[in-house]
Amino acid sequence: MWQAKTDEEMRELGKRLGQALTAGDHILLEGDLGVGKTTLTKGIAEALGVTRPLKSPTYTLIREYPEASIPLYHMDMYRITEEEAEILGLEEYYEADAITVIEWPQQIGEWLPDDALTIKVTREEDDTRSLAFSAEGSASQALLHRLEMN
Ligand SMILES: Nc1ncnc2c1ncn2[C@@H]1O[C@H](COP(=O)(O)OP(=O)(O)OP(=O)(O)O)[C@@H](O)[C@H]1O
Ligand SMILES: [Mg+2]
Repeated sequence: MWQAKTDEEMRELGKRLGQALTAGDHILLEGDLGVGKTTLTKGIAEALGVTRPLKSPTYTLIREYPEASIPLYHMDMYRITEEEAEILGLEEYYEADAITVIEWPQQIGEWLPDDALTIKVTREEDDTRSLAFSAEGSASQALLHRLEMN
């Protein structure tokens, strides 16, 4: 279990995560509104060499960072239903040699990637954020193993 006491620590955890990512990795970020999912993604983007500010894709749904050392797709499915998700053609993103980070993955049920690392972020009483990992599929199991090693 990883923990972050501050916004800055959350970003640092994102950097650590970003350093372990390889092309084709998919990350699902679960957790309540304002728990720190976008903050974690900022650290991931930083680790991948993205220098422009990462903005929440709440309204745009998908933001692309092709300039990253491994192309990054940051998605926020909060406003989407499973039926609407079909037309987004998400498989194309999943099959690109890229990294996908999805906030609010529960919204899109069957349109999720088959192989993904789920990170459940929870807010403790003292505002500390706790991150719990679960890997589904061989690529994300390998990713989880790399995270445990460093
Ligand atoms: N320990 C912490 N970790 C992360 N964020 C924190 C922490 N403490 C306070 N914050 C603040 O909480 C907010 C988290 O916002 P953020 O946009 O990252 O959440 P989110 O999970 O992406 O929300 P949403 O579901 O609306 O997309 C920020 O304003 C951040 O500064
Ligand atoms: Mg967010």
